[in-house]
Amino acid sequence: MCGIFGAICDGAVSNTLKALKLLEYRGYDSAGIAALRNDKIDVYKTEGRIAALQELMRGVPESDVAIGHTRWATHGSVCTANAHPFLSPDKKFAVVHNGIIENHLQLKRELGNVRFTSQTDSETVAYLLEKYFDGDVMRTLLTVARKLQGSFAIAVLALCERKIYALRSKSPLVVGTSADGVFLCSDVRCISRWASRVAVCPDGSAVEISADGVRIFDFSGAPIQPDFFVPERAEQAAGANGDFMLKEIFEIPHRLRLAKQGYVNGGGLRLSVAEARRFRRVYLIGCGTAHNSGLQAASSARRLLDVDLLPVVASEFIYGDYPVGADALAFLISQSGETADTVRAAERVASLGGVTYAVTNTSESSLAFACKYTANICAGGEYAVASTKAYNCQLMTLALLLSELGVLRGSVTAQSHAELLRNSDAVPDAVAQVLDKSADVARLAEEVARCKAVFFIGRTTDYPTACEGSLKLKEISYIHSEAYPAGELKHGTLALMESDVCVVAVSTDPALKGKTASSVTEVTARGARALSVAPYTFPDATPLVIPQTDPFVAAMVSVVPLQLLAYYTAKRLGRDVDKPRHLAKSVTVE
Ligand code: AGP
Ligand code: GLU
Repeated sequence: MCGIFGAICDGAVSNTLKALKLLEYRGYDSAGIAALRNDKIDVYKTEGRIAALQELMRGVPESDVAIGHTRWATHGSVCTANAHPFLSPDKKFAVVHNGIIENHLQLKRELGNVRFTSQTDSETVAYLLEKYFDGDVMRTLLTVARKLQGSFAIAVLALCERKIYALRSKSPLVVGTSADGVFLCSDVRCISRWASRVAVCPDGSAVEISADGVRIFDFSGAPIQPDFFVPERAEQAAGANGDFMLKEIFEIPHRLRLAKQGYVNGGGLRLSVAEARRFRRVYLIGCGTAHNSGLQAASSARRLLDVDLLPVVASEFIYGDYPVGADALAFLISQSGETADTVRAAERVASLGGVTYAVTNTSESSLAFACKYTANICAGGEYAVASTKAYNCQLMTLALLLSELGVLRGSVTAQSHAELLRNSDAVPDAVAQVLDKSADVARLAEEVARCKAVFFIGRTTDYPTACEGSLKLKEISYIHSEAYPAGELKHGTLALMESDVCVVAVSTDPALKGKTASSVTEVTARGARALSVAPYTFPDATPLVIPQTDPFVAAMVSVVPLQLLAYYTAKRLGRDVDKPRHLAKSVTVE
């Protein structure tokens, strides 16, 4: 959520603008840049997207030190005054901030009778730097750091110093170097465009970057040796039609193959038999789409494991008194690896003695650092706010990890695990067959776009798919949508059925076809329109026929028509599919 970039290099302003464009998917309500000049710091900021900032900054002179920010508002409305950077009243410091300063009201009182220019929590930091400045910027920064509560990645320019200072606590921040300069950023994939060596700033650290390199300290001022690595250079190009989302959906077959290879090459589950047999409960924790993949994995693997599989929303897990001890294993699922709720949940599991296992698309993320084990889902950079290919790859990775857990516990035979590995090879082709029907889905989307509400239904392992289809549709089309276990409709929701309502029934288990057929008839009898996603057809529903696959892997295929349906419906309604309103790709605040 929000992006930060800082550069010390030739053309720092234009490089920062370019980086903000790449970070835009992380927050896109307003943006700004501060550029260091000889005798002042210039700030340029505006409400709106990076294109508006580019327009505002047309013709602005270059600088070789700059910081920039793209915002996802938490405190204060979306307007130019609340956009970052913020200057201290004496204009000697410029600050950008990602996260939330939880004690900002108390700090504002401490600052006394000063006039703030914004409603944000972030501006307080610039004022504190001025108040506590003792002639040494790093020392002052550490004084301020010790006063801040909450989550923050902060970058600071100080007048007359050709350096960038930064603080990191519970919000992502990385530094990088190359022959061309020194950089810092909230996103490892973005900085890899500029830096050939990258180091993650440890949680609770203060950083100074300059032409001489990188210095890192903990908040007590003790130096920390940066741990540099060579980042994977990430491509970030939209598809031929200009959208990331459709391109990312069409990558699913290829990415599923890589996810399986990633599991195999990464050495599988990597738990010992003794460790695996110790567990009495296995949590699957995540938010949004990642939560749905936990729901799905638990539902598919329940019959394989003699242990409780408990999917829990991360923000509920943190405060919900779930029992955790040495007998608990927690899979923490997150595409970005930076979702604050999920990282906090991992910390809670670890502090209570449970075993933490990150299932993520970002191996150098805060989540990976917080967990004992990490499995990389190998989905590649995902830039559309609506998560698609990462979901399929999470399902592939979790299915294989849970099946192997069953092998170690003795509830799954080595032969069935080998069979699953073989069956999983058929999934990419089955997905490709669904993608071949995208024109059919686009036609159905014409009708869905005219509906005032869309309900997704499914039984057992199809219910999580319904949840994911519903989340996808609502977040990018803004059509009201809910998901229900198919049998639950008659316990209240049937009252909402009428002609401009659509029900999408997902059914992959032939044994439950008859039951789902009854649910479909119940809704059409009340005037609603029904669509079905299944390897077979229903008399009362317009069908989208998908290939029959092994039930354990079926969800990786059946979700694809729903991802396409959301996409084409949103397009039909003229929505910005990659950057839906009010949302951001990576939610780094609790
Ligand atoms: C998915 O379409 C959503 N944008 C959102 O629910 C997302 O899955 C959630 O915020 C979790 O993100 P993560 O996987 O990066 O942790
Ligand atoms: N809390 C700050 C604000 O509302 C930063 C939000 C962000 O992370 O973008 O401006």
